[in-house]
Amino acid sequence: MATITMAPAGADALLGLYKRAPVELVRGEGVELFDADGRAYLDFTSGIAVNALGYGDPGLRDAMHAAADGLIHVSNLFRTAPGEQLAARLVELSFARKVFFCNSGAEANEGAFKFARKWARTTEGAAKTDIIALRGAFHGRLFASLAATDRPTYRAPFRPLAGGVSIVERDIEDLAIVLDADTVAALVLEPVQGEGGVRVLDHGFVREVRALTRERKVALIFDEIQCGMGRTGSLFAYEQIGIEPDMLTLAKPIAGGLPMGAVLMSDQIAAAMNAGDHGTTFGGGPFVVSIALHVLERIADPSLLTHVTSEGSWVGSQLRAISDRTCRVRAIRGVGFMWGVDVGEPAGDVVARARDAGLLVLTAGDHTVRILPPLITSHDDLARGLAILEQVL
Ligand SMILES: Cc1ncc(COP(=O)(O)O)c(C=O)c1O
Repeated sequence: MATITMAPAGADALLGLYKRAPVELVRGEGVELFDADGRAYLDFTSGIAVNALGYGDPGLRDAMHAAADGLIHVSNLFRTAPGEQLAARLVELSFARKVFFCNSGAEANEGAFKFARKWARTTEGAAKTDIIALRGAFHGRLFASLAATDRPTYRAPFRPLAGGVSIVERDIEDLAIVLDADTVAALVLEPVQGEGGVRVLDHGFVREVRALTRERKVALIFDEIQCGMGRTGSLFAYEQIGIEPDMLTLAKPIAGGLPMGAVLMSDQIAAAMNAGDHGTTFGGGPFVVSIALHVLERIADPSLLTHVTSEGSWVGSQLRAISDRTCRVRAIRGVGFMWGVDVGEPAGDVVARARDAGLLVLTAGDHTVRILPPLITSHDDLARGLAILEQVL
């Protein structure tokens, strides 16, 4: 008789990669989560920028039920309507002319790096392969995306990282030295660095980067995995800067909590790619994409974007007022529904105290508390969360 090995009970069977909070979440409603004891938490994390529509959204639930009646997966060997519709809609709403779907943020960035290399090699020659990322960047945990991520503790255990990827200061003069037209294929940046401390890149700097990358024929990739899809108050963060990237990566909120990523690209980049150059089994499957179509229409709704813009600037003003009232706050940075508060103690301690007081917030580095409320959070709930934050500071 075969021996059945029982998995260890409870959390012991999970690989210990995360410092999980001692709270078991079982249910969500609106912008609140509930633990196994029925205790409510106001959620200012959105599942790390994923749950833009909060929890238990009836429209999202209906979209999931409708999608479950259709095909779940067939592979990319066949045409399916939802993927074609979503790509067309993203093209309509952005600078892009072509879209590639995948399954996560890191996978989207890895795809974009490959597309940039193929484009640069095809148009300029075999030596144009390097990828440049910026100080403070976070682009993911796979090999090339990790090499483009500026966090020593994430990188050190996995050296040697993917070659041909370097980190450069957020400084136009440094970039002018490093962006060699003969060897650099792409520069990747987050218009608002998320994990690196919620740093809104100076728009003038980004415009200079755009001019320099055009001059040197370097593909400019915007990683809008965290700051895109409405989080800054426009559908895409690049719209506020007044320039267009050559590629843009999306993930987190795109499919309402289901795993999905996307790379949006210009005609020129797309023209360098041929059938078989890249691929993925699950990417763009009809079920997940049907949900993404619903989420995109909801987030692209001008009334939601106006809500994020106006309430977001109010949140900024409130955080600055809190900072004036307490010596615990060192700096405030952010835009829309994406804010970082530098504190003079380990940010994890503030996160734990906030959780005990019924508010979920995140860290972004050792001394930054990060808030990423669902985009649907009302004025009153924002005020309630900020009051708790002030109290725990
Ligand atoms: C800006 C940015 N890029 C890439 C990623 C990686 O996304 P994923 O965790 O889906 O691989 C993240 C995740 O936090 C991110 O914030």
